Amino acid sequence: MEEKKAEWISKTTEKLKEKVAWVSTRSQNKIPYTTVNKVHDDKSIPSASQDDGLNWWCNGFFGGMMSLMYHETKEERYINIVRGIEEKLDTCFSNFYGLHHDVGFMWLPTAVADYRLTGNLVSKTRGLHAASLLAGRFNPVGNFIRAWNDPKPKDSSNKGWAIIDCLLNIPLLYWASEETNDPRFRQIAMLHADTARKYFVRPDGSVRHIVEFNPETGEMIKDYAGQGYALGSSWTRGQAWGLYGFVMSYIHTKKQEYLDTAKQIAHYFISNIPEDGLILADFRQPKEPVWYDDSAAAIAASGLLELSKQCNSVDAEIYEIAALKLLIALDQNHCDYTKDNDGIVQNCSVAYYGEHEINLIYADYFFLEAILKLKGTDFFLW
Ligand code: GLY
Repeated sequence: MEEKKAEWISKTTEKLKEKVAWVSTRSQNKIPYTTVNKVHDDKSIPSASQDDGLNWWCNGFFGGMMSLMYHETKEERYINIVRGIEEKLDTCFSNFYGLHHDVGFMWLPTAVADYRLTGNLVSKTRGLHAASLLAGRFNPVGNFIRAWNDPKPKDSSNKGWAIIDCLLNIPLLYWASEETNDPRFRQIAMLHADTARKYFVRPDGSVRHIVEFNPETGEMIKDYAGQGYALGSSWTRGQAWGLYGFVMSYIHTKKQEYLDTAKQIAHYFISNIPEDGLILADFRQPKEPVWYDDSAAAIAASGLLELSKQCNSVDAEIYEIAALKLLIALDQNHCDYTKDNDGIVQNCSVAYYGEHEINLIYADYFFLEAILKLKGTDFFLW
């Protein structure tokens, strides 16, 4: 059994590294989000919309893949691609309104990773600017980090909106506190995580996607289905963000409640993994149509592997077995390792009512991250 596992990890790592090495050359000047006709698109092409283009929340993940590959191979070309992306993203700092809470997803896998890997002080400054922007989104009456700015045209307001995804942005704040020896960033992150525990996590271990608070009093107003099927449903990528996010808050703070919550969400997630190991877009979606979300599977798998490192050996085995089930299912059913396609993981959903059966760069990122964790990498990016 152990031998078979080791063989699968080794084969999958090799296939992945070969594919990423190939695509890193093809896409070295791009910031990919997805594929169009099997070719990476490029979010660094100037866009008319300030929410899109360079400000797009996913713009850190291709750089993140390059950071992982640099750590793995020490080949300079990978860190040079990361730096090219960092330089492009510098433009975002002068477009304050275009940014959002996803600055963690944008700068942790790029600038902060560069700083952690090479000590690059320009990158460290980029990371600290991004952390200050994230901290500036904190609402102290409701103890939450505001997700997005108001949509345009201004027919509604997001002032009181917080979302589960933010739990994987706040490691940027933990990092900033560790770097500056200033507790403010960490305290904001913990207050937000405490709010998420209280208002997002349901008694059965599932999590809500969006919760709206009164931005003047902090009172909870209501929740929204967000990218899930319906109010009260269970958007799987949201479950994965919650699971992984609480593990990260535990690692950075050692607060037991965060570990307990991560386990609670993990148990819920594991109990919903179907026989074939393939994850749907929403655990409570109707039987038809069958929409999958491979990104949820990859994020959850990487989160479960991180969780397994925080537990005693019995729990650790449960989490690792579940992670392996998810990753093997992706490898055997939904991965394209050929050179006909720039993307790797092929069957993602942007949202239940969004695009389906597409490649998403963060699914590729978390799949690579999870496989490298199984291989035993010691690089810590979040
Ligand atoms: N963070 C946005 C999403 O997961 O789609």
